Amino acid sequence: MSTVTNRVAVMHGVNLDTLGRRDPAIYGSETLNQLEARVHDFARELDLEASFFQTNHEGEFCEYLHRVRETADAVLINAGAWSHYSWAIRDALEVAAKPAVEVHISDVDRRGEAEPWRSISVFDGLVLTKISGKGVDGYREALEVLKGELGA
Ligand code: DQA
Repeated sequence: MSTVTNRVAVMHGVNLDTLGRRDPAIYGSETLNQLEARVHDFARELDLEASFFQTNHEGEFCEYLHRVRETADAVLINAGAWSHYSWAIRDALEVAAKPAVEVHISDVDRRGEAEPWRSISVFDGLVLTKISGKGVDGYREALEVLKGELGA
């Protein structure tokens, strides 16, 4: 049995602090705190230790990623709209040099039929996989992928 608990940085970007009041038909009615509490429990069940970070400021998001090298073993990233255009955040994730999974609560590819920019991800080729449209269950799936990758 492993004696080391692997640490996963769960990072939420721009506007995700508004979960709960943001279109519930798309994002559900859970607040970010409620979602994070569930993700914390999922992580525990998998013997992972989750830490949480959210900001609406791109530079802060990048700086947190710079520190992830020392503070976490893997990254679960939902960067919100930044996922579709922030090359700065892609570069910062590359600097972090940790296994990462991209998650979206909503189905960004499906939404991309009406809003093509949502189908674009700056993290393509950098993350292990992108999970979208599965709500909070997508976070559990992402943790499972990271656990497998860490060999934990
Ligand atoms: C999102 C999808 C993005 O397109 C959107 O800009 C968000 C949330 C999601 O979790 O579904 O802010 O990342």
